[in-house]
Amino acid sequence: MMHFLPLLENGEDKTSPLKNRIRKNYQHLRKWAKKTETNAFRIYDKDIKEYPVAIDFYDGRFSVHYFAGSREEEEPKEELYHLVMDTLKSLFNVKEEDVYWRTRIKREEKEQYSKAEDSQEFFAVLEHGVKFKVNLRDYLDTGLFLDHRETRQLVAKESEGKSLLNLFAYTGAFSVQAAVAGATSTKTVDMSNTYLEWAYDNFLLNNLPLESNTLVREDCLKFLESESHSKNRYDVIVIDPPTISRSKKMDQFFDIQIDYIFLLSSALQLLKENGVIFFSTNSRKFTFDVTQFPNCSIMDISKKTIPMDFHSAKIHRCWKISVC
Ligand SMILES: C[S@@+](CC[C@H](N)C(=O)[O-])C[C@H]1O[C@@H](n2cnc3c(N)ncnc32)[C@H](O)[C@@H]1O
Repeated sequence: MMHFLPLLENGEDKTSPLKNRIRKNYQHLRKWAKKTETNAFRIYDKDIKEYPVAIDFYDGRFSVHYFAGSREEEEPKEELYHLVMDTLKSLFNVKEEDVYWRTRIKREEKEQYSKAEDSQEFFAVLEHGVKFKVNLRDYLDTGLFLDHRETRQLVAKESEGKSLLNLFAYTGAFSVQAAVAGATSTKTVDMSNTYLEWAYDNFLLNNLPLESNTLVREDCLKFLESESHSKNRYDVIVIDPPTISRSKKMDQFFDIQIDYIFLLSSALQLLKENGVIFFSTNSRKFTFDVTQFPNCSIMDISKKTIPMDFHSAKIHRCWKISVC
């Protein structure tokens, strides 16, 4: 059941550019969302400089990210907070408790991927008809990275009738979309038990068999090393790592700018003939030295992978890599 909230105010409000923009975006997206059976999408993406927030719609609830200008302004000014809340209430009649705020600075200061609260308020959303469990309150991220919706579609298409390896898999969204699209097998690797259990629930939510969709709790760097000694080879490999990662579960600190060479060269060894790697990063500073991979075709597919509800092309970058 999809909850598309009716817009309470359809006409333009000359006094509120924020309200007008959200209304326009929502009206535009709602048609596409119904058609594609998707009810998790971004309805406002820092479109107006004065209102530096991103607002995501999750089946009738809202997640608001505030982008702080500096460390001194970690929290949104009260004025902005109330403006956003009043705007969402007047447009959608949403209850205050169904609007969840996040701040970027908070997220950087806290240990990455740690828990924020413990409400256990999980619910399911749809993306192209596929179900995903989300939680807008307890974790630093919601369980589904909306900016990779298009990438998941590309990976799913590519994986039909093929095997997929999903590294740094988080809640397994790439694997689940691929399995629904007809991947013969998926392997989902992450070092977090919490997120692997979440991935398990996502497979169950979509009635997918767990025999052919396996979950592996391991440091991906170690996994790549041990897997190269096995006979397992894959048609499609997804690598979507964090920019940096430090955890007691890892022997060493992970830094995408340093470790991508090892990640990609090891993953290339695990590819079947005609196999492809989808590699993505959110790091804006990352530079890809393609000369390190002379025998590969490396296509920057970032443009194709930015969904229309995301208005910054810098949200992530993505490459499709294969052996020439
Ligand atoms: C940015 S998220 C990945 C997003 C995911 N690919 C998706 O599309 O939903 C980072 C994930 O990497 C995991 N992680 C970080 N360092 C890791 C490592 N060295 N080995 C395995 N998993 C790791 C974290 O537990 C987290 O789930």
